[in-house]
This record gives sequence, C-alpha cells and structure tokens, in this order.
Amino acid sequence: MLIKLEIRPNFLKKAILSAISLLIFSSPRAKEGLWLPPNLIDRQNDLEVSGLRLPIEKLYNPDGTGLNNAIVLFGSGCTAEVISSKGLLLTNHHCGYGTVQGLSSVKNDYFANGFFAKNNAQEIPCPGLTVTFIRKIENVTDKVLYYLPDTMKNKIRDSIIALRVAAVEKDYEKSTGLDATIKPYYNGNQYWVIVTETYKDIRLVGFPPNGIGKFGGDTDNWMWPRHTGDFSMFRIYAGKDNKPAAYSKDNRPYRAKAYFAINTSGYKEGDFTMVYGFPGYTQEYISSYQLKQVYDITDPIRIQARSIKLDIWKNNMDNSRDLFIKYASKFAHIANGWKKWQGEMWGLTTNNVIDKKRAYENKFQQWANDQPAKPYAGILPAMDLATQAVNDAMRNDEYIKETVLGIELVQQGATLDKMLQCFRSKMPVAQLQDTLKKLCNKGFYKNYDLATDKQVFRALMPLYFSNSTGMPAYYSRTYRGYNKNFAHWANDVYRRSAATGIDKMEALAEGAQAGDSTKILADPAWKLYTAVTEYRTKKIVPLMQRYYNKMNTLNRLYMKGQMEESPRHDFYPDANLTLRLTYGHVKGIDPDGPAGYSYQTTLDGAIAKDNPDIEEFKVPEKLKELYKKKDYGRWGVNGTVPLAFIADNHTSGGNSGSPVLNAKGQLIGTNFDRVWEGTMSDYYFDPSVCRNISIDIRYTLFILQKFGGAGWLLNEMKLVKN
Ligand code: ARG
Ligand code: GLU
Repeated sequence: MLIKLEIRPNFLKKAILSAISLLIFSSPRAKEGLWLPPNLIDRQNDLEVSGLRLPIEKLYNPDGTGLNNAIVLFGSGCTAEVISSKGLLLTNHHCGYGTVQGLSSVKNDYFANGFFAKNNAQEIPCPGLTVTFIRKIENVTDKVLYYLPDTMKNKIRDSIIALRVAAVEKDYEKSTGLDATIKPYYNGNQYWVIVTETYKDIRLVGFPPNGIGKFGGDTDNWMWPRHTGDFSMFRIYAGKDNKPAAYSKDNRPYRAKAYFAINTSGYKEGDFTMVYGFPGYTQEYISSYQLKQVYDITDPIRIQARSIKLDIWKNNMDNSRDLFIKYASKFAHIANGWKKWQGEMWGLTTNNVIDKKRAYENKFQQWANDQPAKPYAGILPAMDLATQAVNDAMRNDEYIKETVLGIELVQQGATLDKMLQCFRSKMPVAQLQDTLKKLCNKGFYKNYDLATDKQVFRALMPLYFSNSTGMPAYYSRTYRGYNKNFAHWANDVYRRSAATGIDKMEALAEGAQAGDSTKILADPAWKLYTAVTEYRTKKIVPLMQRYYNKMNTLNRLYMKGQMEESPRHDFYPDANLTLRLTYGHVKGIDPDGPAGYSYQTTLDGAIAKDNPDIEEFKVPEKLKELYKKKDYGRWGVNGTVPLAFIADNHTSGGNSGSPVLNAKGQLIGTNFDRVWEGTMSDYYFDPSVCRNISIDIRYTLFILQKFGGAGWLLNEMKLVKN
C-alpha cells in the first residue's frame, strides 16, 4: 500500500520546460494569495481580469446574502459548503471519516458499504460534530493596538492586548447576539473580529464506501493523477427559529438563505476557479533562518523516524488482516504528514527556496540599514542569533517527540501518570478503583499490538541515542544497565510494564489499594515517560518558550518592515484557519512517471487501477457494474464520468472540503488535496508546480444518484448549466 518515494530525475527537466512554456504562452498567470473576504473589494480589478464574472459583493456580504454564508468550518479543521436551501452540506470523505467511524459497527459497516439516506428520517445524528458559519469579519486593529509602541516590552504589550481583545469581543457579542472571536493577522500587525454562528445538530446524509471515498488510499495520497471520490454529505438541523439548537428530534433542516448553485457543464483548461474555505497554517513570509530549521531539523527528523516506524507497521499489516484493521487509521494519520514533508523538502530543494529567501533578505537589509530611525536593521541578525541559539534544543526535542514519544507504550506512560495522580489524591478505595478503571484507555488497546510496538521501540530508541546531544539521566543509566543492548532493554520493558495490555491495566485498577502507587513508580513505561517529560520541562521548554517569545516580536516587526519596504506588493495574511478566498485557473501538470500531462481524470482511470487484491484499489462491485453498462445517466461525458481535476489555486491543510467555484460563483467541485510536487506552497508558492486537487461535482452527483440511490437529494439542489 505504500510506495517508496524516489528522487525524480525527470522532474527538473519537465519543470524547466513547463516554466518556459508558461513564459511563451502566458495565459492568465496564477497568483499566490489567501485573501481576506472583506478585502476582496481591493482586488476587484485583478479578480475580473483573471476571469471573475460575479459582482464582488456577492462573494462576501455581512447582510446574509454573500457566499460567505454558504461556507462553514466543518468540525475543527475542514471546510464544507451549503448546497441546498435545506441545509445540505458537502465536504470530503476524509473530513467525515472520524465521525462516521463513531457511527459504524460490524453490523453497520459504513466504511465497507457506504451510507446513503433515502429520506430525511434516515439521516443519522452525529453527536459532537459542529459547523460554524462566518457571518461578519471586521478589522478591529485600531481598537486593539492603539498607542502600543512597537518597542514596548512583550509581556506588558501582550497583557494589554489580551484585555482589549476580550472587551471588544464582548461588545461584538452583545451587539450581534452571536459569537465573536478576535484573531491576529500579519504576524500580529492587524487584528480582525470574526462573528460566527455554530450549529450543533448535524446529521449524516451520504458517505460512499472506502472503495470510492478513500480509493487509492495512502499510495495515491498527495498524488496526481488521482481517482478518489473524496466526498460526503451532511445536513444542518436547527431549532424552530432556524437558530442553533442541541440535538432534538423536533429540530428542522436549517433554512439557508445562501447556498451554492451547482454547475454541471464542467470546465476546460484555463477556466477561472476560486477556492473558498479555511486554510490552516502557512508561513509565506518566514525568514531563511526559520525555514532552515524546517529544512534541516523538523522535516528531516520527522521523515527519518516515521520511515522506520511506518516500515515496521506496514510489514506487520501486510502479514495480518487483524493488524491491518487495527493500525489502518493510525497509519493514514502518520503517513499523511510523512509524505507531505517529503514533497515539501523536495520542492524547497528543487526551487532553491532558501537561497531565494537569502537574496530577498539581503535586499531588505540594505533598505533597513538606510532607515536608522526605524527598528528594522537589527531584525534579521537577531533572528540569526536566536535560531542558532535554539537549534540544538529544537533538534533534541524533535527527536524526543518522534522517537521516544513515537513509541505507543511510552505514550501510555501518560495514562499511568494520570493514575498515579489518583493514588496521590487519597480518594476512598472504591472510588479509586472506579476512577482508575475509567482511565484504562480501552479504546487505545482495541487497536494496539504489543509485538509491533516492541519492534518500534527497538528501532526508534537507537535512533534517539545516536542523534540526541543531551538526554535524561534515566535513559543513559538504564541503557548502560542493559549493557547497551536495546533488545534486552525492550524485552524487559514489554514484559514488566502494566501498560502493554488492557488486561493488565484493568487488573491494576480493579485490585487497587492505596499503597499501590509503588507499582506505577516501578513501571518502566511510566519511568520512560516521566523522565523524558521532566527533561523537556526543565531543559527544553524554557529555551523554546523564550525563543518563541522573541521570534513573535521579531516576526511582527519583520512583517511590518516587509510591508513598508515594498508597499506596492500584494501582501495577504498567512493562513490561520479563518475564511479565505484564493483564485487561479484549471491547469494540468506533467508529474514524473508514466502518466504524462493531464488536468482531469475519469471513471475509466479508476477502473483501470482496480485491483481486488489490494485493499486501497478495490473498486466496489456495484461501481464496476455501472461502468460495464455505461449506466451514467446525465453524468456521462464522452462515454465516461469526469472524476477529479487540478488547478493552480493556492490552498493548504484545512481547505479540505472547500467549494471550488467557477467565474459565476457556481460550484464545480470540492477541494481535497494538493499535488506532492507543490506541497512546499505552505512556505513558497510556485505556480508552475503547485496544484490543488478537486473532485468533480459530476462524479459526486453520479455516485450519489447511481451508486447510492439517493437521487432524491438532487431535487433540493439548484443544478444549472452554462
Ligand atoms: N492529503 C490529504 C490532506 O491532507 C488527504 C488526507 C487523507 N487521506 C489519506 N489517504 N490519508 O489532508
Ligand atoms: N487534505 C488536506 C486537508 O485535510 C487538504 C490538502 C492540503 O493540505 O492542501 O485539509
């Protein structure tokens, strides 16, 4: 299921060719940018030249009619869009995944079989899931930052800001009757208030089986060409007044004033597109010093440690179906970042991003040197010093997090530590036993394999020992105690610790007596966990904290300086999980490998990848039947169904599930990924390689109607053609 990523020799050649062709046939050029909705008015000209055919005030309008009112933050890190007047929501399969896991059982295995409600009554409540509308966004910088000099001491400055933020939020909540949150933008040079409304009764409407919604799995993740039907549907329910309400069977589908019309005519290469959603975290204005930390420290350590762990997991998963099921979700989570960071490293290298940053900094420094009255000349040298001073601690910490704390048993040391606190609280024995039992972490052990984890211990501990430049005394002492033999050490730890299985944990809880805290104090998993946690608290965290504080100030000033140095440049604030619009054009790419240039995939491509022997590439029988009979209904185009497409929109994590819109603001797809070659776009956006991947709305509707038999939902949608 996992492919090894090799260096791609062809790619450079292709990148150069495509850069040249871009120069020669320069059609509308892609632009980076994660634009704040209220600021779009300043970009009206550029948006229109790029292709927008919609009055600008339709995109964002706090009066309730703007398209901002048709987009929600889904859960805590995805985007979804409203696609009917009855509160129907469209998002990604991988965004609904966790919720659906909670609703599934062996009897109702929605991962294997999918789920499609046949009417409103069948829609399934999703406890804990919320969606948040963005009703209004306003610049409150003047209210937060007035009379605060740049050079004021951090602590005082921050505490004044915190007080003002709380007061202004309260004012907004009072005047709107809604929730209000103020967030910093441009590294703290601006503050904006976001007025929101969060709905809490959300129900599952449609979820294709993994053979469609997760098709290609981790092998195809971050890759193009792609054939994943990565969508799911939910519905918002509201109280009688259409306002948020806790779940009740009397709640009614939310009546939406704003929702997206769906354009089923498709698109062609070069067409204008927008992605409207919640990008999570980018650092486009970062200095070369911090970027080098990503490049030299965090990315390589994460990749190195995770390669080892994932190799072990994969091997064991290939040999046991039971283990496969237990580790599939953890694997997907760990592998998602692992693969992305390799793309990021590759992109930063191929594009010489650090050198480009340095050249830019030289220019900035010269400018700053000519402004003696301003606080800018010392910023970059101070960043240089600060990063150098912390790099060693950062490296050690990253190794701890990815190796020692990457061992599941050591993570369970935290559970033992919580138990220890119960012993120490001196509660009555019956209550103690009861509390300990609840702490046992049954859910974790359901998906835990001791032998696999022990292999991970034996592989990751040596990595830690050979790379760390400072470690807890307990570690070096114990290692010597086992004659520097990791295998013996592992055998002993996994034999003696109570945290290796639910039986031992429950035995510890059930028979617990007040004096039993000694059992925990002697447990090797607890010792490994506490030693490393204390070490971090004493030796690493204070250094890192001081560093981050210093960098916050420096980065705020650096951002301000950059904006003063080139006032005509189009600055946009880095992503911070708030609503942004980005725009570009449908555009293909020629990835390395045999695939060749393309901007769109089809159902035929998915069928061609079908492999009943490999879980990730098993096409469901019913889809194969539809394919054989060419039973595509109105969704067929040239004898197949369009499936996914790419464009050069600037997106990031959190944009999963975002609406992909045409020039008229009509829905043509749902964003779900980026291409591997362009994942460095969180630091550096290069239009020649950066692409976002979207599922074609026609594939979504085909699956919904023909595969899921949920055609009734089409009646509430507004389907339009060009
Ligand atoms: N790469 C996509 C995003 O970051 C999709 C992740 C889910 N899919 C998977 N195969 N793990 O988050
Ligand atoms: N799959 C990502 C998400 O879950 C979006 C892809 C990206 O990082 O661009 O948000």
